[in-house]
Amino acid sequence: MLLLPTDASQCRLILHDFIATVHPNLISKKLRPNYSLGLVLLSAQSTVMRTVVTSTSSDTPQTNASFRHYITIRRKTNILRVYLPAAPGRCTTWMTTAVLEAAESVVYKVCDTLTEFNSQMSSEDQINFPVVQKNLSGKIIAVIGANTGIGLEAAKHFARMNPAKLILGCRTYEKGKNTASLIEKETGFTNAESWPIELEDFSTVRAFAERFEKEDVLLDILINNAAVGLNKYTKTVDGWETSVQVNHLSLALLTILLLPRLLETAKSHSHVSRIVSVSSKTHFWTTFKEERMPFNQVIHTLSSSDTPMEHRYPDTKLLSLLFERAFNQHLPSNAPLIIDAPCPGLCISDLRRHIDETPYAEALKLARTAEEGSRQLIYAALAPTTQDESKGIHLDDFRGAFLSQTSIAEPSEWVLTEEAKKVQEGLWEETIAILAEVDPKVTSIVQKFLHN
Ligand SMILES: NC(=O)c1ccc[n+]([C@@H]2O[C@H](COP(=O)([O-])OP(=O)(O)OC[C@H]3O[C@@H](n4cnc5c(N)ncnc54)[C@H](OP(=O)(O)O)[C@@H]3O)[C@@H](O)[C@H]2O)c1
Repeated sequence: MLLLPTDASQCRLILHDFIATVHPNLISKKLRPNYSLGLVLLSAQSTVMRTVVTSTSSDTPQTNASFRHYITIRRKTNILRVYLPAAPGRCTTWMTTAVLEAAESVVYKVCDTLTEFNSQMSSEDQINFPVVQKNLSGKIIAVIGANTGIGLEAAKHFARMNPAKLILGCRTYEKGKNTASLIEKETGFTNAESWPIELEDFSTVRAFAERFEKEDVLLDILINNAAVGLNKYTKTVDGWETSVQVNHLSLALLTILLLPRLLETAKSHSHVSRIVSVSSKTHFWTTFKEERMPFNQVIHTLSSSDTPMEHRYPDTKLLSLLFERAFNQHLPSNAPLIIDAPCPGLCISDLRRHIDETPYAEALKLARTAEEGSRQLIYAALAPTTQDESKGIHLDDFRGAFLSQTSIAEPSEWVLTEEAKKVQEGLWEETIAILAEVDPKVTSIVQKFLHN
C-alpha cells in the first residue's frame, strides 16, 4: 500500500519514485512529472483508493464543490495537470469512488495525450487500452442492450472480428434491425440479427433463450450489458421494481436458461464459452449490511415500494456482481465456461437519461466515450491477452473476476467480507427461488449443472 502524505509536494515526490519503479521506461524518457502523476494513478489506482478508504467515515453524498476540491485538471500546452487529493482525511465512500472514477478517466486521457505526443514510444510502451483482437470466425455472440451506448460499441468491435453470427438483443425487433443496419454500414458485417428481448418482461427473456434451442443456434459469448438507472419507483409487468428486474433478475434468468447452450457450444467448439456480466464501480458506493437488508430477503426488500430509491442503481449493480460471483462459485471449477464482470469506467452514454445528471457533471467532463468503455467488455470476453499471459495471468484467473482497466481488479472491500459472502449465498438462493417460479427449467438446470 502506498500511503500518500497530506503535503502536495511530498505526495508528488513519492508518486514520482513510485512510477520510477512501476514504469522505469517512461521515467527514462524524461516525461514531464505531470504525466507521471497521471500515470501513477493507472498503476496505483487501487492504492490511491485504499488510502482514502482508510479514513472513510460516512456514506453521505458530497457536493460537486467538495468533489472538485479533490481532483482538478487543467489543459495547457498539451499537458494534463493532475492534482491528487491533498488531504484525504475526511473522504466518504461516495467521494472515494467518485475520485477513483474520475482518476481513471484522467489517466485514460493522459494516456491518450501521451500516445499522441510521444511518437517515439514503441507500441509496447503504450499504456492506452487497445481493443483486444481475436479470431472469432465460426463464433456466435449475443449482446444484450446492443442498440446504444457501450453495448452498441462492443457489438461493432465484435462485428469487425467477423464472427459467424452476432445476435443483437434489443427491446424491440425494430431497434435491433436498425442497429444491424448501422453495424453493416460502419463495419461491413452482414451477419447481425435482431432478437427482441424486453428485460421488464420475463416471458420475452424465456422466448429469447428458447429460440437458441428451437433454431438450433449455438452460443459462444453472452454479453449481459443492458441496464437502466432509475430513481423513481415503477413496477414491471411481472410485479418487480423495474431496475431490480432489468439489472438483475432478468439477466440472471437469461444466464441460467442459456447455461446448457453455452456448455454445449463449448463442447462442440472445443473451447471455453464466456459470459460477460457488465458491472460498475458504483457497487463500491453501497452494501447490503444486515441492518439495511434482511438476510435472504435482499431482492424482496429492494423491490418493495417502502425501500428508498436513492441508492438504487449502485444497489442493482451490487446485486448483479454478487450474483456473478455466486454463479461462479456454483459452477464446477473446471467447467468450460467463464463468467467475469468488467466495469467499463465512467462513460458518456444514455445511462443517465432517466436521472438528474447534475451530481455527475464534473466527473462526466472526464468520462470515457462509450467506445472507449466498450473495450473493457471486449477484454472481458476475450482475455487473457498475450500480454496477460506473459505476466502469468491465465484463463482460469478470469473465473468470477471483477475487471477494471483491462485487468483483474478487486471488488469493493465489503464484497470481500465474510458478511458479504453470506449475503451472496442468500441472494443466490433467493434469486433461484424467484426464477424457479418464473420458469420450471431453472430448477432442473441448477440441479444438473450447478452444484450446491
Ligand atoms: N455509462 C457508464 O458510465 C457506465 C459505468 C459503469 C458501468 N456501466 C454499465 O455499462 C452497461 C451499459 O450501459 P450504458 O452506459 O451503455 O447505458 P445505455 O446507453 O443506457 O445503454 C443501455 C442499454 O440497455 C438497454 N436496456 C435498458 N433497459 C432494457 C430493458 N428493459 N430490456 C432490454 N434492454 C434494455 C438499452 O436499450 P434502450 O435504449 O432500448 O432502453 C440500451 O441498449 C450497463 O450495464 C451499465 O450499468 C455504465
